[in-house]
Amino acid sequence: MTQQQWTAVDTYLTELLAPADEVLTAALRDSDAAGLPQISVAPNQGKLLQLLAQVQGAHRILEIGTLGGYSTIWLARALPADGHLVTLEYSPVHADVARGNLARAGLDKLTEVRVGPALDSLAELVDEGAAPFDLVFIDADKANNPHYVEWSIKLTRPGSLIIVDNVVRSGRVADAATTDAAVQGTRAALELIARHPKLAGTALQTVGTKGYDGFALARVLD
Ligand code: SAH
Ligand code: DHB
Ligand code: MG
Repeated sequence: MTQQQWTAVDTYLTELLAPADEVLTAALRDSDAAGLPQISVAPNQGKLLQLLAQVQGAHRILEIGTLGGYSTIWLARALPADGHLVTLEYSPVHADVARGNLARAGLDKLTEVRVGPALDSLAELVDEGAAPFDLVFIDADKANNPHYVEWSIKLTRPGSLIIVDNVVRSGRVADAATTDAAVQGTRAALELIARHPKLAGTALQTVGTKGYDGFALARVLD
């Protein structure tokens, strides 16, 4: 199997099941125009996030790693009118692009982009006594993934869902001898999910327009 085949199948599946609309197209266009890296989730992955948020009946969503807000739009569209999404982004430039994209999507009232290192923003959310999030999507600097899982446990409730993006990275996750801090961080997050008494999780490999990668999913237990 080749990238060309994965892309052809993804194009078919995406056009059928997760078609673009003007808001999503404009979000990617403005992200590209501002020079942001093309590392958003694929459309069918965005739709998966949206469906998972709906299955959760999510009223409160936390995203770690906003970029231009593409995944944020998919997730926030799953929220009810009184829902709330907080998304954490290190780069003020990325955050500005995301705010513009969320405003165009009519989601600015439902969403809040917080700028700064996510570890700081997560500590602030705990200090503020933020109500528990029903779903967390972890998609920022991979070296911090175990810390993001730990903070997510503090900021959720039994039954919440924690999703981690990019856990396979072309198979590099299986290299126990890796010196790549991103792969080490992801392995540490997966090992934490495996052993943590408050989590039940799994991970899946994916192929598609974004190459060969994967998601981890963990449910928060009592
Ligand atoms: N979720 C987005 C993609 C996020 S890309 C989507 O699918 O559309 C990862 C983002 O994490 C980048 O915008 C990067 O600036 C941000 N990031 C990297 N390190 C971070 C940190 N320490 N704290 C918060 N955000 C960070
Ligand atoms: C990268 C980050 C992502 O979140 C992603 O989905 C793909 C690639 C990266 O940093 O290269
Ligand atoms: Mg990602």
